[in-house]
Amino acid sequence: MAHKIGVGVLISGGGTNLQAIIDSSESNRLDARVVFVASDNPGAYGLKRAKKHGIPTFVVDYQAIIKETRGKPLEDLVPKDFDLETVLAKQHVSFPSSDPMKVERYFRTRAIAEAALLREMGAYPFDLLVLAGFMRILTPYFIDRVNTDPSQPRIMNIHPSLLPSFPGSDGYGDTYRYGCKVGGCTVHFVDYGEDTGSIIGQKAFEITPDDTIDTVREKGLKLEWQLYPECIQLLAENRLMV
Ligand code: GRF
Repeated sequence: MAHKIGVGVLISGGGTNLQAIIDSSESNRLDARVVFVASDNPGAYGLKRAKKHGIPTFVVDYQAIIKETRGKPLEDLVPKDFDLETVLAKQHVSFPSSDPMKVERYFRTRAIAEAALLREMGAYPFDLLVLAGFMRILTPYFIDRVNTDPSQPRIMNIHPSLLPSFPGSDGYGDTYRYGCKVGGCTVHFVDYGEDTGSIIGQKAFEITPDDTIDTVREKGLKLEWQLYPECIQLLAENRLMV
């Protein structure tokens, strides 16, 4: 058996991709070991899946942090090493509001949450961080502290569409509503944009006239469960060039 890389997983919900990664790891189809599972959502079912397999878990409750900081000045709450100008210059996510005050507040609250995440993650050394249904955007503050060597990105995400089509929060829904005849899923490295990082792998499926939004999601998810372990294995075998 080859050396196993350590994988940290971030989730927000059901965790079926997490389960596929755990199962591939436990059956030695994947040279990786899940070393922690973290969620922004305390109710995420994926946390229970992790516990069943004896994997350490923790929660950084973004919603609670956003609520607790509402209306408060954030300058004293942001991490000491947070620099707003740097983050604003690097990020390229489009926001519904162009109000600079709102955008600044967004990055400050996220830095507070991300600093908590980084602190907790510090207890579990990892080679790769995998986003598996993690419904939060990671900002340059966080990304730069994980990708300490810019030539070796080490955050992956799975997205429910054939990128670069249909980035955003409802890839399968957007694919189906557009009337596409082919849908798919994509694993990519995470960069400073939303679903814009370089593509590692994709799988596609046909959408027929009988399909509904539910069957499209089912077809897509089944492919995700194959694709994610395959892409992690490529990194474990050092076969990914950037
Ligand atoms: C998947 O469709 C994934 O592509 C998207 O969120 C969903 C998560 O599903 N980002 P699960 O939590 O892994 O079951």
